[in-house]
Amino acid sequence: MINSPTHALVRQIPHSYTDYYAKKNIHISYGLAVRQQEKYIQTLKDAGMKVSSVLADETKPDCVFIEDTAFIWENHALITHMCPEREGEQKAVEEALKHTHTITHIPSVARLEAGDILHTESTTYVGLSARTNNMGAECLKNFLKKFGRAVVKVPVDKCLHLKSGVTYIGDDTLVTVPGWFDMKLFDTEKIIYTLEGEERAANCMRIPNNLLVQEQYPKTADLLEHFAIENGLQLHLIDTSEFAKGDGSLTCLSLLW
Ligand code: GLY
Repeated sequence: MINSPTHALVRQIPHSYTDYYAKKNIHISYGLAVRQQEKYIQTLKDAGMKVSSVLADETKPDCVFIEDTAFIWENHALITHMCPEREGEQKAVEEALKHTHTITHIPSVARLEAGDILHTESTTYVGLSARTNNMGAECLKNFLKKFGRAVVKVPVDKCLHLKSGVTYIGDDTLVTVPGWFDMKLFDTEKIIYTLEGEERAANCMRIPNNLLVQEQYPKTADLLEHFAIENGLQLHLIDTSEFAKGDGSLTCLSLLW
């Protein structure tokens, strides 16, 4: 399977995460969010990954969603350029990556958040979303050219990032939401659709022989359990309720390589 990561970088949750969303009348329990992140980290460790952590930045309420800050391919990291509220989160991440990865930056007029980047076995997809523009997608394409990797652009208008609505779970299978994307753009053989009212369940994580699924969407989790059994994977149900309130999900919570 593509990308069998051995390392994960996560970021501590700033207290400003709950304050920021409280101002929007969204109530997040800090203590529960911390416990949910601990379970997530333990699951990655149990799957054999080495996990390290970046300190929280109280000036960046969304910084726990570390995935968006960089795109990693082999030992290279492309530092993204984020939406104005989140721009600057990348600095500490770049510091953490620079000892192990060759760093590349994109021009500041380009916008790219890595939640918009999805891989299947042979293709990389980039969402053209509220967070990633055509120039950002072209930067990714150029970056991946040297690795001989094809990049396909996918319009995203039903969710925040591409991976908010579609993820690849290996064995030639995507999980997505009916009607959210033009599925003819994708090259996989099989598609599992989320069930009604469980759109966020499309965000799953496959790490070699493990499948992480969001616990709070039980009907789709049942479908994914069948997939896990058929493919000899260990299924992990992770409650991400306090991150979903901030429009985050499983993949947003780590950078993998
Ligand atoms: N709140 C998640 C994000 O802005 O990316």
